[in-house]
Amino acid sequence: MGKTIIISNRLPVQLQISNGTITAIPSVGGLATGMKSVHSGGDSLWIGWSGLTDEEIPKKLAPKIDEALAAHGSSKVNLNAAEVDGFYFGFSNRTIWPLFHYFLEYSEFELDSWNVYKAVNQKFADAILEKADDDDTIWIHDYQLMLVPQMVRDQRPNISIGFFLHIPFPSFEIFRTLPWREEVLQGLLGADLIGFHTYDYERHFLSSVRRLLGMEVSFNDIYLDNRIIKVDSFPMGIDYKKFSEAAKEHQKNTTAQQSDLQQRLNSHKKSTPDAKLILSIDRLDYSKGIAKRLNAFEYFLNKYPQYKEKVRLIILAVPSRSNVPQYQLLKKEVDELVGRINGDFSTVSWTPIWYFYRSVPFENLIDLYTSSDIAWLTPLRDGMNLVAKEYIATRTDRTGVLILSEMAGSANEMNESLLINPNNFEQIADALYEAINMPVAEQKSRNAILQKRLERYNVEKWANDFMSSLQAQKDRDAANVSK
Ligand code: ADP
Ligand code: G6P
Repeated sequence: MGKTIIISNRLPVQLQISNGTITAIPSVGGLATGMKSVHSGGDSLWIGWSGLTDEEIPKKLAPKIDEALAAHGSSKVNLNAAEVDGFYFGFSNRTIWPLFHYFLEYSEFELDSWNVYKAVNQKFADAILEKADDDDTIWIHDYQLMLVPQMVRDQRPNISIGFFLHIPFPSFEIFRTLPWREEVLQGLLGADLIGFHTYDYERHFLSSVRRLLGMEVSFNDIYLDNRIIKVDSFPMGIDYKKFSEAAKEHQKNTTAQQSDLQQRLNSHKKSTPDAKLILSIDRLDYSKGIAKRLNAFEYFLNKYPQYKEKVRLIILAVPSRSNVPQYQLLKKEVDELVGRINGDFSTVSWTPIWYFYRSVPFENLIDLYTSSDIAWLTPLRDGMNLVAKEYIATRTDRTGVLILSEMAGSANEMNESLLINPNNFEQIADALYEAINMPVAEQKSRNAILQKRLERYNVEKWANDFMSSLQAQKDRDAANVSK
């Protein structure tokens, strides 16, 4: 049994250089946070981009950078500024991300960035080929690297390759608008196993394969001349124990051990004991529905004015992809909306929205999850949404209400939360009302079911299921060849 090579655009840590010192900061986002627990477990190497362009790395620091990454079981693919521009800010985040999240109007179809995407995918494939032995298992992740499976297969026809898409796969009607749709599908078909978060994404993919490539598809299998590819859904879980134990530890903290944020949240609770804290946490991304959420909050305050001074919304948004114009526009829109709503509704003793635009350390995430009465997540489209799962895992006394968009992949597994359509303000305002007034016994009975499920289908189980399925696929292939 060889090693596992994980490959994704983001490594588990991002490097920063300041005054000649290298710091590794944890990457944010579902892929990195989820796979981190898998990576720390066994014999694996993680290949990806360090987050720095070649131009940003002084020559004399290059060996130190490699050492810093090796300490995290990682190895880097070097990308220059033009490559990052065309591949990451360009094709990945101005073409595929908006298209796969049904923001067709944001999607740009530019030949130049497609060409850079191809060249950079080849770089990632070459990095794998350099490190891989024939008995290794290669696990390729996400929309930035959809051509890599076939590029590796071309050079190593018998190596075991899995691919997992962390974002939605859109319906055929959306996917077909991509000028390079056949090439993208052919790239993915280099894998032995292709995984998605939900059954719907899996069906959309199979439908595109059948209709665009005319291939034979039966249930979960795609038949090629010399291989059968399996397609399946594997809903990603979280490191449940890490979150629930951190929450338990957190409750034991004496005042002196508490973070500033925790102390602030506690004093807020003490001064307004019957006020409710509503929390939302996301990357600042248009797919997350942050601007609509703010409008819906205003709608709620107008529909249920008795909750003025009785609720507070905390918006924690982590900066993301800020070179892409749509993200810059969104930042401006959110800044303005927060300013306007706070301006319209604040009183001398009450500011309705606390808005933080930053990444926060794990400890502060736990502070926020454990202090909030309601988690409110309203993505317009989301492959999974792990924040919803993290919130539930930290509710050790089982109180707390999750309001979740039905457009998030995680909604399929979280029926006991209050599911809403993020475009329906009336329904959202009523869900907030219901959450604020939900009896504690009901909160506990809903969360008991959710927690049990999340504990069982944790991220380790997700990774094991994927890897076992990939192994079974390999065994099936070997049996077919020997017939
Ligand atoms: P996405 O993958 O689209 O970013 P997810 O909800 O699936 O969305 O995953 C986001 C991950 O990033 C979660 O694990 C969450 O804890 C983490 N995260 C989100 N916002 C922040 C933040 N401001 N600071 C630190 N971590 C964050
Ligand atoms: C989502 C994507 C990941 C990505 C993450 C953060 O989770 O599925 O592939 O890494 O967002 O985005 P970023 O562009 O910062 O890597």
